[in-house]
Amino acid sequence: STGLVTYDPGFANTASCSSEITYIDGDAGILRYRGYPIDQLAEHSTFLETSYLLIHGELPTTDQLASFENNIRRHTLLHEDLKNFFDGFPSDAHPMPVLSSAVSALSTFYQDSLDPFSQHDVELSTYRLLAKLPTIAAYAYKKSVGQPFLYPDNSLGLVENFLRMTFGFPAEPYEVDPTLAKALDRLFILHADHEQNCSTSTVRLVGSSQANLFASVSAGINALFGPLHGGANQSVLEMLEGIRAAGGDVGEFVTKVKNKEAGVKLMGFGHRVYKNYDPRAAIVKKSADEVLEALGKRDDLLDIAIELEQHALADDYFVERKLYPNVDFYTGLIYRAMGFPTRMFTVLFAIGRLPGWIAQWNEMINDKSTRIGRPRQLYIGAGERDYVEVEKR
Ligand code: SDX
Repeated sequence: STGLVTYDPGFANTASCSSEITYIDGDAGILRYRGYPIDQLAEHSTFLETSYLLIHGELPTTDQLASFENNIRRHTLLHEDLKNFFDGFPSDAHPMPVLSSAVSALSTFYQDSLDPFSQHDVELSTYRLLAKLPTIAAYAYKKSVGQPFLYPDNSLGLVENFLRMTFGFPAEPYEVDPTLAKALDRLFILHADHEQNCSTSTVRLVGSSQANLFASVSAGINALFGPLHGGANQSVLEMLEGIRAAGGDVGEFVTKVKNKEAGVKLMGFGHRVYKNYDPRAAIVKKSADEVLEALGKRDDLLDIAIELEQHALADDYFVERKLYPNVDFYTGLIYRAMGFPTRMFTVLFAIGRLPGWIAQWNEMINDKSTRIGRPRQLYIGAGERDYVEVEKR
């Protein structure tokens, strides 16, 4: 047990964990961060204010938030050696392995402040991660499109700075669209934590060996990359594009899913915990229309997504299995309208999930009962037998 998570071999969903951070009622479709309902935070909070709430347990005062934001602002730059790190990757590298590698490499620049039991070191690592992950993400994108990197501009907020480093050019001024920034800030809030999902459990398990925060988060990024987890937002767009390319017949695709043809799944649907509509998906769906309209974009893939959802929610196969849209079903359509390529979608998920990983890692490392994660197994292999020389096999 890692103090908070006890693994019951073979039954992935019986892992038990006690935590004060996020509450989910999967049957009622309820999600709360430190007791605050997700729809209220999405409506009234900001990503950094919600990050403070998750990490410190309370909503910040004006001064506390200003100090938190300022401490993060001071760490947006990467060490020049880390900036050169991107030269080592092929330009067609997927940004997620670039992200996990760069985050892991961060620990090589701060070897004197990695002590997981030092409040000073953990606070510094927290500011460094929250500040640098958007910079690393923007550089991974710029590398993939062969464009020059932009240094952060600390007169901007975190989200605005990220948008400018991603879509700006050194040759001309870049005006951040406030609609875009507000919509992305809200999406980051929606992704900020989700109790013991695969990537968060990975961060806790790696951290339980007393590996530093950068190493633990790097492992979480790799877990998130999987198409069954955060990678689903990329797979949803690929699925919708596939349906459109095949003529747009949603019913035909749903039949393939029900027949379980070649592992075809309705990506962006289903959830281990939610057996009701994912409350985040409802908020994203509502804002998808608003964002596309505000950006003056129409997207026939949104029409296909809505038709697909209506078709599935009326089909016994999905109803019996309590399969509803999850957070990944609509997010990709908004990211696409914002101008992000599909391969950056899971990177955006990682930026949003970072404060949750940090909060959960902190809770684990500060729990006196935490021991190294060491799941046991049920041995079902061969019984004892003697070695046989190769000529007799
Ligand atoms: C995230 O845990 C979290 O909180 C994750 C997350 C977070 O914020 O961190 O919410 C983010 O990862 C959301 C999930 C994104 N992934 C996808 O959208 C990929 C598609 N979804 C599925 O792969 C699946 O629903 C999972 C992985 C999300 C959940 O898998 P489970 O709980 O192991 O469910 P299961 O595979 O046991 O499915 C139960 C039944 C099976 O049918 P039978 O074999 O009993 O006939 O439902 C079927 C499955 O085949 N099923 C699906 C399906 N999801 C489940 N059938 C078609 N399409 C799907 N999407």
